[in-house]
Amino acid sequence: MARATTAILAAVAILGNAGLTNAQAPAGAPALSLFPSPWGQGGGDGWDAAYEKARAFVSNLTLVEKVNLTTGTGWEFDRCIGNTGSIPRLGFRSMCLQDGTVAVRYTDKNSVFPAGMNMAATFSRSLMRRRGEAMGSEFRGKGIDVALGPVTGPLGRVPAGGRNWEGFSPDPYLSGVGMFETVTGMQSVGVIATAKHYILNEQEHFRNNVDVTIDDRTMHELYLWPFADAVRAGVGAVMCSYNKINGNYSCENSWTLNYLLKNELNFQGFVMSDWGAQHSTLESALAGLDMAMPGDGGARGNVYGAFWGGALTEAVLNGTIPAWRVDDMAVRIMAAYYKIGALSGNKPRPDVNFSAWVKPNVTVGPVYFRANASIEPVNLHVDVQADHGALIREIGAKSTVLLKNKNNKALPLHKPGHIAIIGEDAQDAPGGPNACEDNKCYRGTLAMGYGSGPGYFPYLVAPATALKKRAAADNTTVAEAPSNWDLDAARTAATGADVAFVFASADSGEGYITIDGNTGDRNNLTLWGNGDALIQAVASVNPNTIVVLHTVGPVLIDYAAKHENITAILWAGLQGQESGNSLVDVLYGDIAPQGRSPFTWGQNISDYGAQVMYTSPTPLAPAQNFSEGVFIDYRYFQHAHTSSVYPFGHGLTYTQFDFENLTVHPCKGQAASTAAVPSKSWTAAAQTYGTVNSSMSANVDPSGFQRIKPFIYPWIIRAANATWLFTAPKAFANTTDPRTNNSAQAVLPAGGAPGGNPGLYDTVYTIGFDVRNRGNVNGTAVPQLYVQLGGKDNPWGVLRGFDDVSVAAGDRVHVEMNLTRRDISNWDTEKQNWVVNNLQKYVFIGRSVVDIALNSSLPALSLQSAGVMQQRLACLE
Ligand code: NOJ
Repeated sequence: MARATTAILAAVAILGNAGLTNAQAPAGAPALSLFPSPWGQGGGDGWDAAYEKARAFVSNLTLVEKVNLTTGTGWEFDRCIGNTGSIPRLGFRSMCLQDGTVAVRYTDKNSVFPAGMNMAATFSRSLMRRRGEAMGSEFRGKGIDVALGPVTGPLGRVPAGGRNWEGFSPDPYLSGVGMFETVTGMQSVGVIATAKHYILNEQEHFRNNVDVTIDDRTMHELYLWPFADAVRAGVGAVMCSYNKINGNYSCENSWTLNYLLKNELNFQGFVMSDWGAQHSTLESALAGLDMAMPGDGGARGNVYGAFWGGALTEAVLNGTIPAWRVDDMAVRIMAAYYKIGALSGNKPRPDVNFSAWVKPNVTVGPVYFRANASIEPVNLHVDVQADHGALIREIGAKSTVLLKNKNNKALPLHKPGHIAIIGEDAQDAPGGPNACEDNKCYRGTLAMGYGSGPGYFPYLVAPATALKKRAAADNTTVAEAPSNWDLDAARTAATGADVAFVFASADSGEGYITIDGNTGDRNNLTLWGNGDALIQAVASVNPNTIVVLHTVGPVLIDYAAKHENITAILWAGLQGQESGNSLVDVLYGDIAPQGRSPFTWGQNISDYGAQVMYTSPTPLAPAQNFSEGVFIDYRYFQHAHTSSVYPFGHGLTYTQFDFENLTVHPCKGQAASTAAVPSKSWTAAAQTYGTVNSSMSANVDPSGFQRIKPFIYPWIIRAANATWLFTAPKAFANTTDPRTNNSAQAVLPAGGAPGGNPGLYDTVYTIGFDVRNRGNVNGTAVPQLYVQLGGKDNPWGVLRGFDDVSVAAGDRVHVEMNLTRRDISNWDTEKQNWVVNNLQKYVFIGRSVVDIALNSSLPALSLQSAGVMQQRLACLE
């Protein structure tokens, strides 16, 4: 078939998506699908140079060596949570992939950082970036190539979602900034970041097989948005999730992987499966998976013990999977490796110097844990903490949200005479902070959730410890009541204290752990461990009760908000190892609170609309429809006209800020430039690198090789006496089967560069205003910019800008925020593109989503009628 004809067919396939059909999609594929799987092409921001090196490297590899890069060696076989095969012939060691999202998991001499949710609460790009760098350097220092974070799936559709704390916020813009800054920071020190879990992994119940139905617009405007920012930041890896989307597993979903991620978002790195989220050899390969993790499992009964490994080699040799697809997998993996290596100045990567499978205080153990083979020093206790404790303390303080401060005077404290510290959440856990693997027991103060995200604490400063230290310095006397259940003791301690601190918490995590009946997701939004009764008991006797909450998301605290005796409420989230110190810094005013709530605090759980699906009438095929569309968290509250206890974006500090003098500058359109539309509207044809030797000797174990069972290998296993069937892999040139077609492919109109069409990120308005500190102490304002996009299908307003602005007492600071074209667009399902519609739009500057200080209409853009990105824009002052 001539290239032009093929091109037209491909274009038809894409345009067909506009009508939610795709003539070329195989039966059973989701309506929006795309084949073939887009091959990596390189591009700006270092991808071209990385691709050049990757192609050169892969050109030297045999088929089994390429396959070895794509497939993990098996669960607990090598030293990391995930390990690719190696290329011993070229001295290329296995790649080490390691959790978690707040710490390097399963080792020692590492730090434990504040959770992603706390990062969102800082509303500080610079702190997000600095945490990314610090975490990245800890992973790198342990010899890890790929860090398994950050998280923006879950986004936070449901308030009780178990892993929401690992992500940032149910607001996609705030999460997108969190992803961009974290990825940039982590990768700058030479560690490949992983944007996970892609996508719609919004709850833990049924996470392995729930089939989520979602519409195209909601996908783009909510769930895909922060992943686009991660891709734009140049993220090296994306982890596909456990769930299904519109009928297909996420790791074999040609809509989410081929269409959205690799074509529209122009993702140039590699897609790895979540652990065990791969369900096929062929479908996963053709739908865009590049790396199977942990490599084994799932394919029970097949001789390989894996969907890939030798099974992938065999599929190439027998012509089911094109050689170019496996080459693309290997090139994508190596391109990410080289790109991120170059970011850190191509320094040699350290050896892996720990083992995830020995206890952190143990040194000697098996290199191959499941085989119990090669006993030697595997954990060298390399200290990677540097001075990160100071940053962790700062972030902890700056992410603390002061929800209530009666008459602006309960806090900060000034040398109180006598304080009471009440509740188990203020105290050290019995047995220390690391008594339970994966933090699976709920004891003592809560500073991280449970599951694969946590790591071991080097130390954990409990609030009681830090408060008592401060009290000693101030000559303050202290009474303590550590039990949540002994309410008499709590009341006794609180009675007569100048300040009664009462601590409470609520935990959640990953679904393989159940704590007190909560299987990952929370069962409700009440405090754990009798916390609500404890707070009420303390408040009943002390008129200066201060509530401190360590929770994984919103809890129902309307009673506390209204209670006369509760003079302050602080949400501290999950602050990591410096928890108590961070809190004391805020309580005593050493650091002005700047945290703003990254989610809405409702009166009732039903106020949130969408909820966790705890049971299913079809438990073997559970299904869920995200029918609420874009209306989650504050968008739903606005839509349903429900008032909250504390709104999204709310947080007090020790001074007051005015926002004044709003200006709105629309930017002028320029004549269409060459960079106007996607830089390439067609890709080159797929390439293969090197040649495939299809002889038997090249593809079976080398003679004399001793397999270590049950390691996953890339070699073919032939039944004894079987004849050799393979002559050469099929060429697949210009085939009419779209899944294996290697000819040039159309680039989607919304695509063209990592993160989507570069024109989406053009500034279209510049918004200016002044922040005035009218109090008598210095402080940090967090002005928030909301846009009303107009029409009944859009929320009242959506967050589209924020800043953390330090302003000295009495001073005024001018702030400017840019709105990009993406910020004012809606996703048009018909056009398959972002479109600025003709509805009147407004901009608001507020202290929270409901406390709006300034507003203005947005003047129409001259380009609105031109529709989508025909022109780049330039802001001409
Ligand atoms: C499953 C979790 O969903 C994922 O976040 C984690 O990285 C892997 N397990 C590996 O532990």
